[in-house]
Amino acid sequence: MVHASAHPGPALAVVVPTRDEHENIRPLYERLCAVLEGIDWEAIFVDDDSADGTPQAVLELARTDRRVRLIRRIGRRGLASACIEGIQASAAPFVAVMDADLQHDEALLPRMLKTLQEEPFDIVVGSRYAAEGGVGDWDEKRARLSAIATSLGQWLLRVSLTDPMSGFFMLRRDAFELSMRRLSTIGFKVLLDILASSPRPLRVKELPYRFRARQAGESKFDALTGVEYLLLLADKLVGRILPIRLVLFSVVGALGIVVHLAVLWLFLSVLGSSFLVGQTAATAAAIAGNFTLNNWLTYRDVRLAGWRWFGGLLSFALVCSVGAVGNIGVASLLFGQRDAAWWAAGIAGAAMSLVWNYAMTSILTWRRPQ
Ligand code: GDD
Ligand code: MN
Repeated sequence: MVHASAHPGPALAVVVPTRDEHENIRPLYERLCAVLEGIDWEAIFVDDDSADGTPQAVLELARTDRRVRLIRRIGRRGLASACIEGIQASAAPFVAVMDADLQHDEALLPRMLKTLQEEPFDIVVGSRYAAEGGVGDWDEKRARLSAIATSLGQWLLRVSLTDPMSGFFMLRRDAFELSMRRLSTIGFKVLLDILASSPRPLRVKELPYRFRARQAGESKFDALTGVEYLLLLADKLVGRILPIRLVLFSVVGALGIVVHLAVLWLFLSVLGSSFLVGQTAATAAAIAGNFTLNNWLTYRDVRLAGWRWFGGLLSFALVCSVGAVGNIGVASLLFGQRDAAWWAAGIAGAAMSLVWNYAMTSILTWRRPQ
């Protein structure tokens, strides 16, 4: 039996992902207080171990206002996964996601909430591209990139809203729970992820707003953000059959062969070294190169830095060495069979070391918190 409580949970949770936003925390909080007057709300900041004092700024607010909460994530990162953890940490029937940098117009929040409470929509999106919207001070290059990426997403994932890349939206918790287990949680575009993961089309309403200019701090948008967007699309399209991480790991492995041959050539033809020296250097270069690339791309969400980078390199090299021994063992065994083609034996050996390296480094090198 449920007892009516004197302390009911909030009606609205505002989830705010943060990385190095310390100057924006208090102004954002003050704006939320002003604009959400009369609404029972809470703000959940999800910080990925910012070193600039962001978590301290949030905790300071939380000590005087229990509506403010902080989730501190250590050793993992990513805008989409931060938003999702924030949503899951609240029980509020309505949840908004909003950037910390004041670029999203908080005045939209009460209208979003009213729309969800009174009209038959699952999700209300702050749109920069709907009539009267705007992208603020973005330079032409970023604006054009965003337009191309938007069209690509709309087309590939068959979503029809004008701004599926928006980072500003509010949704009903039950609508979120429909797609919760199917999310890719890759990169920046959590809204697109939610829309494309839902087993039934979500009823979406767009409200135009003007994207404001950032006053303090820096954008975290970089080249990797674009790559991650393509990975999100790929995962949504074929992720159920082909794990995207394994695909990336394989591509990096294939690049390793190129690195290996290039270094070997350099040592033999340019430096005039012996084959043994060349092959040893080439192997070392390929392992170090593969580790660096996988750490940057394949495992960007649990990227190793500082001392842990060296530990990671060591475990990666160890796992790959065992994989190489296994590769040669399996290939030789197959090659010894009657009628075995040399290339089939070679491929089988390589495939076996790929699976081994992938499985073992995902456990030993880039351990993920569950
Ligand atoms: N926890 C966490 N982890 N937060 C992050 C991370 C991360 O890895 N990366 C960025 N953030 C936070 C930033 O601190 C900021 O509050 C918010 O996420 C958005 O990051 P920006 O770097 O300011 O992104 P943007 O302005 O280029 O793009 C944003 O707005 C667009 C328009 O709505 C993003 O929300 C885009 O997804 C969106 O399309
Ligand atoms: Mn921003």
